[in-house]
Amino acid sequence: MSDQQGRFITLEGVEGAGKSSALELIADEIRDHGVPLQITREPGGTPLGEQIRDLLLDHRQREMADDTETLLVFAARAQHLHQVILPSLAAGTWVLSDRFTDATYAYQGAGRGGDIARITQLENWVHPGFTPDLTLLLDLPVELGLQRASMRGIPDRFEREPAAFFQTVRDCYLERAASAPNRFRVIDASRPLDQVQETLRQTLREWLATI
Ligand code: TMP
Repeated sequence: MSDQQGRFITLEGVEGAGKSSALELIADEIRDHGVPLQITREPGGTPLGEQIRDLLLDHRQREMADDTETLLVFAARAQHLHQVILPSLAAGTWVLSDRFTDATYAYQGAGRGGDIARITQLENWVHPGFTPDLTLLLDLPVELGLQRASMRGIPDRFEREPAAFFQTVRDCYLERAASAPNRFRVIDASRPLDQVQETLRQTLREWLATI
């Protein structure tokens, strides 16, 4: 590689898409590529961001207004960029984040029906001109994802939403992927785990060979 700047890779998908096991596989592939890697997540990724995450996911926070939710997500993101993402990339460390701003368009924009122009305003405030180098979208039918997610214990504030909410989230992710094909790779996550993993591995290797 010709420059020292790290690469920023994000992983997205609806509930139950299998992000956790995908994250491990992606991390192994990147480390095999011989570069230092920081794994992180949103909302969260910093001590302050993790406290904001607790608020966002707490199912007792029934009165949280949609604007509050959007602003909290971006507050956590501002801290994450400042404290982890940008310094890591500048030091040549690659960053792999479990979700980033595409999730805000999908959940707060499509899911909650929020004003997309406002999300774009916040995006331009918090990280102007900065987008992931690669976004892997694990896609699967909503019913299947929710069925898988329901086996994980007490549902958080988002997991309590109806299937229709997640359908709009999924549709938004797919639209964003279609409109930015250079950045996105869509992985069919409805298949058996070994097939999903093989596709992920191949997709990553092909992408790594291009940079
Ligand atoms: P997860 O890490 O288990 O996927 O949970 C994070 C939840 O937060 C998930 O339901 C999606 C939601 N979320 C948003 O609503 N907006 C965002 O911008 C991000 C990053 C996550």
